Amino acid sequence: MRACIRSTGSYLPARVVTNAELSKTVETSDEWIVQRTGIKQRHIAAEGELTSHMATAAARAALENGKLTPADIDAIVVATTTPDDTFPAVAVKVQAALGMTHGFAFDVQAVCSGFVYALTVANGMITSGQVRRVLVIGAEKMSSILDWNDRITCVLFGDGAGAAILEATEEEGRGILTTHLHSDGRHRDLLYTNGGVASTGKAGTIQMQGREVFKHAVEALAQVVDEALAATGYKPSDISLLVPHQANLRIIEGTAKKLDMPMDKVVVTLDRHGNTSAASIPLALHDAVSNGRVKRGYLLLLEAMGGGFTWGSLLVRW
Ligand code: ACO
Repeated sequence: MRACIRSTGSYLPARVVTNAELSKTVETSDEWIVQRTGIKQRHIAAEGELTSHMATAAARAALENGKLTPADIDAIVVATTTPDDTFPAVAVKVQAALGMTHGFAFDVQAVCSGFVYALTVANGMITSGQVRRVLVIGAEKMSSILDWNDRITCVLFGDGAGAAILEATEEEGRGILTTHLHSDGRHRDLLYTNGGVASTGKAGTIQMQGREVFKHAVEALAQVVDEALAATGYKPSDISLLVPHQANLRIIEGTAKKLDMPMDKVVVTLDRHGNTSAASIPLALHDAVSNGRVKRGYLLLLEAMGGGFTWGSLLVRW
């Protein structure tokens, strides 16, 4: 038995903040941001709009696109670094908002790799026969952990949510073919928040050594991409579509180049969304699905790297 992606959905807050708008509050420019990152704009949640609200909206869209109701879902896994509250989990709030009193729900925290981790956990629960259908969501309100006076970080991130419904399939060859997860906690100081529940009692803001993170990201992503191919015996040319974490266009182009893959086989949404951490892959995936870029039988490679460091990849036969 395998787990396949039945449907996807997404939600983006209404407010769009362009690079030009940011350049009015911090010393930066559209030219600098586009050249270094590829980001042109990002969506920012409204006051009072929480991670669980965005997660629920994306979940509803995925349910509708899959012609399912909450009664059809056995479990909910939300990947997030920006939960509404310290507890309960965002996933439990989504469960309640969907009117579900059956099943179980929990959050996964692996920063930008969160969605790859959550899909891997859900895949394990399905292939072990524990559940048949899991609603997997990546949702982030990154704007709540940004120092809006720090031009190094505030230009990079955005808010949003994406969802995918994973279900058991006996269909030959379809579904998640392989998953690979890694972490290395020694790199904590290169990317972290300067606060937290038990340390300062406040969430803190993102602190980052961009150049070092960049270097590690390129190496880590090359490793997990190789691993996915080695585990399955596929060649880079077998991959129909690359759905990478959307952090920096230069990192994405580096991975595509390593795979000798033209950019028209790569899903890029960071120009419109910025880096939405755990929400970036499901947002990109839904974008590709709704634009008709994902066809039955396609081989998709998903990969991400983020704070921790954490990194991982998945190969999915659509
Ligand atoms: N606008 C204008 N100038 C800026 C800005 C800005 N927003 N931010 C930094 N600068 C300046 C710096 O102060 C520095 O000035 P100096 O030369 O006078 O000292 C100069 O630009 C170059 O700064 P660098 O940090 O060396 O620039 P770099 O080319 O490395 O680009 C960036 C920075 C875009 C952050 C890049 O390192 C990067 O993308 N790293 C990956 C980080 C990342 O993606 N983090 C997200 C979380 S992890 C993940 O999702 C994978």
